[in-house]
Amino acid sequence: GTGRPARAAGKPVPFGSAIQFNLMDGDPAYRQLFVDHCDLIMPMNALKFDLLRPTREVWNFAPADKIVDFALRHGKTSRGTCHIWWGATPAWVKAIDSPSEAEKVLVEHIERVTDRYKGKLISWDVVNEVIANDPIYEKRSLRDTYWLRTLGPRHIPIAFKATARADPDVELVINDYDLEFQGPHYDERRTIMLSIIRQLQDANIRIDAVGMQGHLYASKVIDVDAIERFHRELDQLGVKLLVTELDIIDWQSPPGSASQDATAADLVSRYLDALFADKPPEMVISWGLTDRYSWINDVMPRPDKAPSRPLPFNRNLQPKPWFKML
Ligand code: XIL
Repeated sequence: GTGRPARAAGKPVPFGSAIQFNLMDGDPAYRQLFVDHCDLIMPMNALKFDLLRPTREVWNFAPADKIVDFALRHGKTSRGTCHIWWGATPAWVKAIDSPSEAEKVLVEHIERVTDRYKGKLISWDVVNEVIANDPIYEKRSLRDTYWLRTLGPRHIPIAFKATARADPDVELVINDYDLEFQGPHYDERRTIMLSIIRQLQDANIRIDAVGMQGHLYASKVIDVDAIERFHRELDQLGVKLLVTELDIIDWQSPPGSASQDATAADLVSRYLDALFADKPPEMVISWGLTDRYSWINDVMPRPDKAPSRPLPFNRNLQPKPWFKML
């Protein structure tokens, strides 16, 4: 491998982060942190289906417009997440039983949204989290979602084709989690990811990159060899790799301790070493910038209820040790 140049030695890859629309106005220091430290600023939620189109009649583009304009005005790039995600399918869509009507709504949504941001976003997560959470245990490769039940596995090629049609230049990404760790469960998820990509390519459908979410855990072992192998296999398929949602979930370190910071820095260092083994990933994006605000506190809070510290800057907006590894 070529080794990994330190961030200080010339920023080997672009770094970005996801910003929350609802916090931008109320917390100017939060907003400024993105300007000061990011090459890319992306909407965390504003481009998800349910927020863009909460009802059939209502389109709500203002939040995403505002973030994308903010990014571009400050000389940053931006990217879109996500056209298809089980966690953002609006109720009015889930009420559609007819496959042909569902396909029409999906394709129209993707075309309209992709077209609106054409030339402004460098990439789109076309599908997010389509792999079954635990494929071996569940005996299925794809997650059981509204789109799978209504359209079958073809919802994936449909979404990729629609995005490519609407913006032939935007990078098309398949995004997922739990692609980083050691064990048969995670091996299976990586295998499924590669097979989805091969199926798209066999059907002559463009796919440009895999987004590894990069939600890392103090309790899960990063499989350096498997990541290196996975990256090489993607390379052979002509598919790039980027990290899209990096953060650290740590339930066990003493809260707020130096050892908690060291655990996070070790994890990130190990992860980046694996990703950089043969060639750099395309970009590294964290899922927020400061511990002031994170989804981890809502979705995976510590059992002792201490505030989670998942992100590269602390609550006082000071960089933590792991930021220096990027
Ligand atoms: C999360 C956001 O961080 C929350 O603010 C929102 O309420 C729900 O979605 N995997 C993903 C992201 O792909 O889109 C999720 O983001 C976190 C898990």
